[in-house]
Amino acid sequence: MGYRVLEKKDLAPGIYSLKVEAPLIAKKAQPGNFVILRYKYTGERLPFTLVSWDPDEGWVQLIIQEVGKSTREMAQLTAGDEILDLLGPLGKPYPMQKYSRPVVGVAGGLGAAPLYPILVGLQKMGNQIITITGARNKELFILREELQQISREVLVATDDGSEGRKGFVTDVLKDLLDKEQVGQVIAIGPVPMMAAVSRVTKQYNTPTMVSLNALMVDGTGMCGGCRVTVGGKTKFTCVDGPDFDGHQVDFDEIFRRQRFYRNQEVESLEIFEHACRLDSAIAKLEDK
Ligand SMILES: Cc1cc2nc3c(=O)[nH]c(=O)nc-3n(C[C@H](O)[C@H](O)[C@H](O)COP(=O)(O)OP(=O)(O)OC[C@H]3O[C@@H](n4cnc5c(N)ncnc54)[C@H](O)[C@@H]3O)c2cc1C
Ligand code: FES
Repeated sequence: MGYRVLEKKDLAPGIYSLKVEAPLIAKKAQPGNFVILRYKYTGERLPFTLVSWDPDEGWVQLIIQEVGKSTREMAQLTAGDEILDLLGPLGKPYPMQKYSRPVVGVAGGLGAAPLYPILVGLQKMGNQIITITGARNKELFILREELQQISREVLVATDDGSEGRKGFVTDVLKDLLDKEQVGQVIAIGPVPMMAAVSRVTKQYNTPTMVSLNALMVDGTGMCGGCRVTVGGKTKFTCVDGPDFDGHQVDFDEIFRRQRFYRNQEVESLEIFEHACRLDSAIAKLEDK
C-alpha cells in the first residue's frame, strides 16, 4: 500500500501542491526536512522539501515545480491516487536561533516553498522576519499570503517588472543591507541565485545560510551522489545538510555536478512529451 494523495492544488503555472497522507512522517517533521519519493514502481527517486504538515491529521504538504519528466508526470496525480513510497523526514532540521536583529529570508522562484517552514520556525522563536521574494513574473509567486502573515514586510522583485522592483532579489537585498543591520540571511532558490546572495552578504559580513539542492539518490549518506564541498571539506547534502553556510560553499562544483545528467534528462522529457502527444492523438481518433 502506498501514500494516499489527499489534495492536489495548482498554485501557479507549472507549480502544484500535494497534500499526502503520511502520519509517521508528519509526527517527526521539522523545518528543513525533506522526503525522497517514488511515485510509481519504475519512477526515479525524487527529493522534495516538507513545506507544512499536521501531526494530528497525519498529512504532509509538498510543493512541486514541473522541471522534467518525473515532475511533469506527477502533475497528473489527483486526490485518491497513491504515491508508491515516501522516505523521511530526511536531512538535518534547520539550526534555529533567536537573533536580536531581523532575519531575512530570500526566495528565488520555487525557493519560497522550502523557505516558508524555516521562516515559520524562526518566527515562532520570536525572530522578526523580512522576506524578499523574486520570480520571473508576478504569475509565478507562491505562498504570498502565508509569507505576509509571518513577515514584518515582504519585498518583491520580478525580472520583467510586473510586480515590485524590476530586477533581482540581490538588488533588493543590497538596498536593505545598506539601511539596516540584520542577524542572518537565508537564501533558497536556484544555485546561481544562492551564490549571488552569498557574494552580496559577504561584503556586509552578514551570516548567510543556503539550502543546497544537490542531486540525490538514496538520501541516507550511502551513495555519495549529493557530495558538495563546504569550507574545503566534503559534505553529503542529504545527511549533513541541506542547509549550509553560504560563504563556505563551493557553488561552481554544485553547478557542474547538477548538469552531469543534462542530456539524459532532456532525452527522457522528449520521450515523455512524445508519448503524451501520441496518447492525445489516439484519444482524438477514438472520439471521432
Ligand atoms: C533537498 C532537496 C529538496 C528539494 N525540494 C524541492 C521542492 O520542495 N520542490 C521542488 O519542486 N523541487 C525540489 N527539489 C528539486 C527536485 O527534486 C527536482 O526538481 C526533481 O527531482 C526533478 O525531477 P524531474 O525528473 O522532473 O526532472 P529532471 O529532468 O530529471 O531534472 C531536472 C533538474 O532537476 C534536478 N534534479 C533531477 N533529479 C534530481 C534528484 N534526484 N535530486 C535532486 N535534484 C534533481 C536537477 O537540477 C536537474 O537538472 C529538491 C531537491 C533537493 C535536493
Ligand atoms: S543522496 Fe546518496 S549520499 Fe546523499
